[in-house]
Amino acid sequence: MRAHPAGPRHGDVLTGAPLPGQPASLNELDPAVWPRNAMRNAAGVLEIAGNDVRTLVQTYGSPLYVYDEADVRGRAREFVAAYSIFDRPTAVHYATKAFLTTKVARWLTEEGLGLDVASGGELAIALAAGVDPARLMMHGNNKSEEELNAALDAGVGHIVLDSFIEIARLAALASERGIVQPVLIRVTVGVEAHTHEFIATAHEDQKFGFSITNDDALEAVRRIVKLPSLEFVGVHSHIGSQIFDASGFEVAAARVIDFVNVITTECGVHVSEVNLGGGMGIAYVSGDDPLDPEQMAGQIRDIVGKYCADAGIEVPNLAFEPGRAIIGPGGVTVYTVGTIKRVELDRGFTRTFVSVDGGMSDNIRTALYDAEYTVVLASRTSEAEPMLVRVVGKHCESGDIVVRDAWLPSDLAEGDLLAVAATGAYCRSMASNYNAVLKPAVVAVRDAESELLLRRETMNDLLGLDAGV
Ligand code: LLP
Repeated sequence: MRAHPAGPRHGDVLTGAPLPGQPASLNELDPAVWPRNAMRNAAGVLEIAGNDVRTLVQTYGSPLYVYDEADVRGRAREFVAAYSIFDRPTAVHYATKAFLTTKVARWLTEEGLGLDVASGGELAIALAAGVDPARLMMHGNNKSEEELNAALDAGVGHIVLDSFIEIARLAALASERGIVQPVLIRVTVGVEAHTHEFIATAHEDQKFGFSITNDDALEAVRRIVKLPSLEFVGVHSHIGSQIFDASGFEVAAARVIDFVNVITTECGVHVSEVNLGGGMGIAYVSGDDPLDPEQMAGQIRDIVGKYCADAGIEVPNLAFEPGRAIIGPGGVTVYTVGTIKRVELDRGFTRTFVSVDGGMSDNIRTALYDAEYTVVLASRTSEAEPMLVRVVGKHCESGDIVVRDAWLPSDLAEGDLLAVAATGAYCRSMASNYNAVLKPAVVAVRDAESELLLRRETMNDLLGLDAGV
């Protein structure tokens, strides 16, 4: 029972049995969850790519987001290799909403990915990074004229159209410039996927794209092909996020391929590209078991091959848009423990609240999605008995939880550093200034060196926006 959807849960894990996936030793780092170059050094301190987290915090402050560059680059490379299916180029666009800075944009384009941008801001960062605009794909269900103008002026490779109004809006803007803009349409296929489950429904009650379960998507194609300033390239479908297996992609691919067949016969146009979106899941806690890129790509290849053969059509060029699977596992957040408080609850139970120096302003995912995370004592090891705790932030809300239930050593003390794994995706990118808390710095580490990706915010950043100062 929960007092508020975003509030704390009562009457759940309080004591007793180990949590699912609890490691035998609290000092252990499960390689499924931690960055590839994370380890404990001889002193027992968490080290990421040869960087002692205590030194990182001394240099850049706490809390701190740390990215293992080699982990991110490695996953990007492996993704491109795994998804190069059907002996033809498969475009992999990194979904920049997961986390973007100019340096990250360069890492990923160097590894062969394009970038999916979904706002003028993401576009501006990609362009500031010097990314070839032809490798950009612009998304969004309500792109403003300003954003569309910026995309056209930059010369982005593809724009994914999401509504009838937008078709007309973009066509007019492209026509004013005398250019022909390649476009895809985003379609909804009546599939919603999340981890192991997906739901296939006739109608999806959501704001994105054109439905293929009625005439909307086909009508969108009919309109586009009549507009000389737009070039119809293909169809885009994104079914959800944190997906662990291919079953949702199977239903989506079947419906998209069916629709491609309809477009070809009814509109007489060639569909050169099918973009099946992103959503490939990652492990946040021990026991999470998403398919690895090779397995997922292999299954998607079989599915697409089969449905295209059944429909009697040539396999189109495929494109994918992973965000979390590229950037999520390589990121860690380091916090400093501020207070530890034991609270007496009903039935003789006690809850131990460990408060850290950040919280829902740097990671909203626990409060927003009930996300689970792995946390360890990072600044030392401990052989003390495990204690069940709730790691909470410093914000004025009881739903300000970083890790709902975690085992940490019972000698945990003020000043200890905690590290939360797999915070690379959708933590900094969804960060806020709630309580006028300053956003932490973001650093990249590799080969025992560190470099800033984003500097810590300062009071001047905060006051600089205030027109009354
Ligand atoms: N392509 C499109 C069109 C998308 O809307 C998204 C994510 C992606 C690709 C990348 O999905 P990924 O591979 O990262 O799962 N804030 C949520 C996730 C929202 C994802 C929205 N769209 C979270 O923190 O879990």
